[in-house]
Amino acid sequence: MKLLRGLAGHPLHPPLTDVTLGAYTLAAVMAVLSRLGVTEHNTATAWWLALIVGLVVTIPTALAGFADWLQIEAGTPLWRTATFHLSAMLTATVVFAITAGAGHADYVDGSVGGGSLVLTLVGYVLLATGGWLGGALVFTYGMRVLNLVEEPASRAVSPLPKPEKEEAEA
Ligand code: HEM
Repeated sequence: MKLLRGLAGHPLHPPLTDVTLGAYTLAAVMAVLSRLGVTEHNTATAWWLALIVGLVVTIPTALAGFADWLQIEAGTPLWRTATFHLSAMLTATVVFAITAGAGHADYVDGSVGGGSLVLTLVGYVLLATGGWLGGALVFTYGMRVLNLVEEPASRAVSPLPKPEKEEAEA
């Protein structure tokens, strides 16, 4: 479980979320371009493959987030926000999985159908909502943030800058 959380000052969830959000963003852009007829066949292929990449990288991303979520005291405002974040991300994942399953025929035909576009955009709105809530966890509550403003650069970038609060207390 500790491995999944990453290191103090270098948590694992945030960099993985960048890959996941990037893949789904590419999928959404490709779906729109395909519907607009921009190299329709190529963009339909890219749309579906980006969805699959997104779904695959969601697995380690969600596991790392889950490992962090387990550390939060249940019932606190932070926990409630994190649980909303979890729910939005899992719902988005289900929508993207349905889109990829139902949209396989569009991938084979090389053309994104209207239903596939709508599902992709619905998934993306859920993802953006989850991202907003995830941002609150870090930038409002300061989860996993050390804020060691005096930390020498060499220690700040090293794998073991300082134990996080809960680790120091453990
Ligand atoms: C598609 C899956 C997910 C994505 C794209 C995602 C995205 C994000 C983003 C963007 C942040 C803010 C970090 C930053 O701005 O650098 C965040 C934070 C967080 N997420 Fe997620 N999340 C996902 C799944 C989950 C799941 C399933 C859980 C819990 C079971 C979770 C728990 C957390 C927690 C605890 C934080 C705050 C601390 C940290 O960065 O680890 N996430 N997430």
